[in-house]
Amino acid sequence: MDENGSRIRRRVSYRKRTRPSLESIGAVCTAAEHEPAPENVDEEEMVAGSRRRKTLDLQPVEVRPLLLESHVIPYPVPHFHDWGKHPGLLLPRMPTEKRVRDQPYDSEEDMFGDYDSFAENSLLHQIDDLEQKYIHLPEQKKQDKDLATKVLSSGHIEDNKLSIPVVGESAVLKDNEHTMNLSEPKDVTVESEMDLLYDVPSSQVLFFENLHNSSNNLSNHFTKGRDGNSSSCQALNEALPHSQMELPQQNDKSCSKVQTSADVTRRRSLKDHLKSAMTGNAKAQTAVFSKTKQLQETLISEEINVAKKALESSSDDRGPFYSLPSKVKDLYVQFKGIEKLYEWQHTCLTLNSVQERKNLIYSLPTSGGKTLVAEILMLQELLCRRKDVLMILPYVAIVQEKISGLSVFGVELGFFVEEYAGSKGRFPPIKRREKKSLYIATIEKGHSLVNSLIETERISSLGLVVVDELHMIGEGSRGAILEMTLAKILYTSKTTHIIGMSATLNNVKDLQEFLQAEYYSNQFRPVELKEYLKINDKIYEVNSKAENGITFSRLLNYKYSDTLKRVDPDHLIALVTEVIPNYSCLVFCPTKKNCENVAEMICRFLNKDYLKHKEKEKCEVIKNLKSISGGNLCPVLRRTVPYGVAYHHSGLTSDERKLLEEAYSTGVLCLFTCTSTLAAGVNLPARRVIVRAPYVAKEFLKKNQYKQMIGRAGRAGIDTVGESILILQEKDKPQVLELINSPLENCYSHLLQEITKGIQTLFLSLIGLKIATNLRDIYHFMSGTFLGIQEKILLKEKSLWEITEESLQCLTDKGLLQRDSATNSEEEIQHNFRITNLGRASFKGMIDLAYCDILYRDLKKGLEGLVLENLLHLVYLTTPYDMVLQCNPDWMIYFRQFGQLSPAEQKVAALVGVSESFIGKKASGQAIKKKVDKDIVNRLYLSFILYTLLKETNIWSVSEKFNMPRGYIQSLLTGAASFSSCVLHFCEELEELWVYRALLVELTKKLTYCVKAELIPLMEVTGVLEGRAKQLYNAGYKSLMHLANANPEVLIKTIAHLSRRQAKQIVSSAKMLLNEKAEALREEVEELLRLPSDIPDMAASMEKA
Ligand SMILES: Nc1ncnc2c1ncn2[C@@H]1O[C@H](COP(=O)(O)OP(=O)(O)OP(=O)(O)O)[C@@H](O)[C@H]1O
Ligand SMILES: [Mg+2]
Repeated sequence: MDENGSRIRRRVSYRKRTRPSLESIGAVCTAAEHEPAPENVDEEEMVAGSRRRKTLDLQPVEVRPLLLESHVIPYPVPHFHDWGKHPGLLLPRMPTEKRVRDQPYDSEEDMFGDYDSFAENSLLHQIDDLEQKYIHLPEQKKQDKDLATKVLSSGHIEDNKLSIPVVGESAVLKDNEHTMNLSEPKDVTVESEMDLLYDVPSSQVLFFENLHNSSNNLSNHFTKGRDGNSSSCQALNEALPHSQMELPQQNDKSCSKVQTSADVTRRRSLKDHLKSAMTGNAKAQTAVFSKTKQLQETLISEEINVAKKALESSSDDRGPFYSLPSKVKDLYVQFKGIEKLYEWQHTCLTLNSVQERKNLIYSLPTSGGKTLVAEILMLQELLCRRKDVLMILPYVAIVQEKISGLSVFGVELGFFVEEYAGSKGRFPPIKRREKKSLYIATIEKGHSLVNSLIETERISSLGLVVVDELHMIGEGSRGAILEMTLAKILYTSKTTHIIGMSATLNNVKDLQEFLQAEYYSNQFRPVELKEYLKINDKIYEVNSKAENGITFSRLLNYKYSDTLKRVDPDHLIALVTEVIPNYSCLVFCPTKKNCENVAEMICRFLNKDYLKHKEKEKCEVIKNLKSISGGNLCPVLRRTVPYGVAYHHSGLTSDERKLLEEAYSTGVLCLFTCTSTLAAGVNLPARRVIVRAPYVAKEFLKKNQYKQMIGRAGRAGIDTVGESILILQEKDKPQVLELINSPLENCYSHLLQEITKGIQTLFLSLIGLKIATNLRDIYHFMSGTFLGIQEKILLKEKSLWEITEESLQCLTDKGLLQRDSATNSEEEIQHNFRITNLGRASFKGMIDLAYCDILYRDLKKGLEGLVLENLLHLVYLTTPYDMVLQCNPDWMIYFRQFGQLSPAEQKVAALVGVSESFIGKKASGQAIKKKVDKDIVNRLYLSFILYTLLKETNIWSVSEKFNMPRGYIQSLLTGAASFSSCVLHFCEELEELWVYRALLVELTKKLTYCVKAELIPLMEVTGVLEGRAKQLYNAGYKSLMHLANANPEVLIKTIAHLSRRQAKQIVSSAKMLLNEKAEALREEVEELLRLPSDIPDMAASMEKA
């Protein structure tokens, strides 16, 4: 039994590995539908074949002739085996218990279910049953059935193989392999005919012989059908026709005709053969072929059972659209207006490497439609593979936008969408009972989430991690955090699939090596982008074929008065009036102040006719701006909005930003002057993008930044053309020419640049999470990081080994790590490190290690006399240290504020060590001899701002009081909310700081929703900011339940300036949140009601009984 059983299992596991999804076959074959002539199918096959071959060649290849510069570059080397590079080290070592623990995961991929179970029904009965089911399946499921019958009657049986392939199996054959499989059935079987027949019960032999003959006939019939009719037709019908949204009708019909008649013949003949064979068998004397015939029978029955199950499962609506329910397709049409995938999207989704779940990096120009591919892969993971997914996005605003956009998918398709941004997100995430979770996170929160999953040994629950704007791995501390996150996933979970995308990648090889990923690139951009430069009044087109990269295009035709020439030497007015007000325009400016000045300047010289364009709507915008800001209105916006112009930078509150973006998207506003913050991933329409100067602040523009900025022009679905104009002075011409002619910048690891936030934080968490605890293992880990990959480029003075040693020493000196004296090994490299309590608290709280000791000292000192009469002391303790560095107090304001403090508040100042006399002296400009800690003084100033904000809950008045931009005040608040939750986690790990825990929970909440308490439940809904919450509250929507059950159509009517899209998103997000909360409560109830297995009472009463 064992031998036979294992043989069958071997076969099964082999199948499993070679099995792409059924829908993927459909997807590829339906691509062929788009080719007009049948011979194109061959072309498709040929191209697919070449794709496969070239994948092995490790060369960039053209995937489809129709695509422009489309490349797939496989990742060739098994990665972690190479991790140990240091001589004398015993590497690799990854297959530890963790890895072993991850192994069973494979079984979840197995659609064949449990092979150890025994079937009860007779073979004939089951086959009959199977056929009956098959015949009665509804018409639209025909493709699935056809495949099943076909493989039953042709391929495998023809070869006398006992395995009866099922839909699930066919489903896994790769696109190109699928076609091959028809003629090369040996592809998927591993045992020889004789081998198998030897063990076949005699009762089956006649049956197989008969079947063999008949299936020959059948396959002839098939071949005829294929050759004689239309080869494309055949291929199409074997596949699922829905895999692309639009299908050529005619093809479909004619194909289905052929298929239907073939079906009937095959069905009838299969059944007849089964019956006659079995009757014959019944009469014949049973010859004994094997001692294990009964077991064999059982195994065969099992296979049939499995086949049956797969057929049944194919009858539910899973799969028509890239393995996903057809509802997904409908949702895309309904909510995103996407009717049909771009060809590259289809190609990418059906790449062999994607089917095989290899890690993937893909790169396309801005607006190329990268997100859709990632989303489909995420949905596959959530719905088909039933795994959780993490999507990492660069900014909080983008996270929130994505949550709003995907919540409706979550509600409709049954998964959770959870926000991990700012101070939102639970660590570890709630273990869901049935539905899977899509975590949408910022880089920082994504890192914490991964840490918490590793710590609770749940990392393999994460099936897929998607990183948008992957190039950010080379940018500052966030890049370092992204690198750590990915390196940890790679090291701890072999089953988590990683996908990275970006429009601006250059040194892809390094990234590929780091992520062990294949690479796909394509130059497709749905809307053509024309690039221009402007020098004086001449406009040049960027042209890669020209000698210096540009060709003269035109002279700017606009009559300038002398005054105008003086005020607008860059001809901005001429450039913008060529497009506005009918089309939209973005003007990127080097600084925030410049944005406001340019907006005002343009409006001063715009014709008064511009005021009339969408006048009523613009009036509404003004009114709305006022209402969300408690009656306040920025004077610049007051002057510019009537012209359809606004500035957009971090000085705006998020409420204002949201409102202005909405007005701009709907065409009410036609011009934004903005900083580079608007450049990444934001989907705002612009017919023309003007880059005001080749600078960002004082730095010369980088190619990546330039590409991202101009990429905002000509967005798909919004514009039909797009153009960019970079304004430059003659003096900058050489540098600009270099910029446009040079490749994109490489991205480099920042683990070392950001020492305390980078490599040291990483080491602490490696030891804290027990990912690697000694020098050898940590080095092993490091050699697989992006830094390790770039060691030769980045590490000139010291080797990676030396850096690893030094960093560990530094952490030990700081009291964050300890060498474990209990380690037996003589060898230094095997000595384990242990994380100290302070180390654990810092790592859990994600505290920048530059500040962990100060934080500890401050909190300890606070214990001696924490003032709890007001919030000031607590606020002081949670004011972020890094924001203190950029703070320059206005001493007069400081002094005035100090004078207004109550005695209890003054006590706080005295406790932290800032005296009124010191501030007084500073305000009056007197020299101060006494040495005072500037950081403490500045931190208290920021605490004053936050404290005032908590009391007044009005950003505008606080901004005025402290003479600081409202946007800055708001980001200080967000930063404090985040830091407060970090301090909370820090305190949770240190027993001596227990008293802070409950206090900080409340403070974090207060800082997160610095509004009146009644608005908090509404603001928990992603996308509902203070202004909107007030509107909703006043309209009677007072709780989450109100919002979740609201009718979007009614909302539109009752809430001013709420678009239908926004209304739907709010309702979906509220539904999602409500579901999440209800589910969490249900889990709690279950937990509470669960009977503990070790109740002493029970044991005693059982004994009695
Ligand atoms: N197949 C499609 N048909 C029509 N529109 C599409 C399709 N795919 C994507 N889009 C739309 O194209 C726009 C740009 O797509 P997306 O945001 O994915 O671009 P991107 O490649 O991520 O660009 P960036 O690098 O600038 O972030 C979106 O509005 C999206 O809805
Ligand atoms: Mg994008």
